Amino acid sequence: MPIRSARVRVKTAKQRSAASSRWLERQLNDPYVQAARRQGYRSRAAFKLAEMDQRFGLLKPGRKVIDLGSAPGGWVQVALAKGCRVVGIDLLEIPPIEGVPLLIGDIFEDAAVEQLLAALPGPADVLLSDLAPSATGRRMVDRLRTEALAEAVLALAPRLLVPGGHAVIKLLRGIEAGMVASAKQQFARTKLMRPEATRRDSSEIYLVAENFQPKAPD
Ligand SMILES: C[S@@+](CC[C@H](N)C(=O)[O-])C[C@H]1O[C@@H](n2cnc3c(N)ncnc32)[C@H](O)[C@@H]1O
Repeated sequence: MPIRSARVRVKTAKQRSAASSRWLERQLNDPYVQAARRQGYRSRAAFKLAEMDQRFGLLKPGRKVIDLGSAPGGWVQVALAKGCRVVGIDLLEIPPIEGVPLLIGDIFEDAAVEQLLAALPGPADVLLSDLAPSATGRRMVDRLRTEALAEAVLALAPRLLVPGGHAVIKLLRGIEAGMVASAKQQFARTKLMRPEATRRDSSEIYLVAENFQPKAPD
């Protein structure tokens, strides 16, 4: 269900640049930012996962969840509220959440992957990735970096996911066809979803891949 609210205007003050006024106005007028604050979520991104979960029924009590790119922790909160056992990782420090190991690390590093497996422990029933590179504003660079992150997640699936497990992976429009083709080699079902909470001007789209079927090594 889309969330809506009344609009606020922000004037450019002496200490504030036009760009930061635009950012502030967007934040103040974003109904998902307001709803996240009201409901105690750390990020508006929480609503994206909640919506995907509502459609696909991925998060169930007792399921083990690995959340890649967790900061500031909205997705962790959603998975925890559904009764999942969660472990998160990010390059940035994530403020603590009781009962959840939150690691600082780079998913491209083997040691970080081993730490995730030790903390859960073992592979997950659900692998979440909202991983995003810091935006450069250069479309091709951002696209290539997002693609590298999504490819890394798919490559990690055999280590991080149990057979029959599910994955949610952030993509950008333009790379989705290739990612779906790769995912189809390992998952029985794949779907693309653009949640209502995704900003209108964003090219973000999520791959939801269900029923992981690991391939036998060659
Ligand atoms: C969109 S934010 C995640 C928001 C989060 N899902 C939430 O609900 O609060 C994307 C995160 O990916 C992280 N990230 C990007 N590259 C990473 C990497 N190589 N390893 C770990 N985290 C990474 C960024 O630091 C950033 O915090």
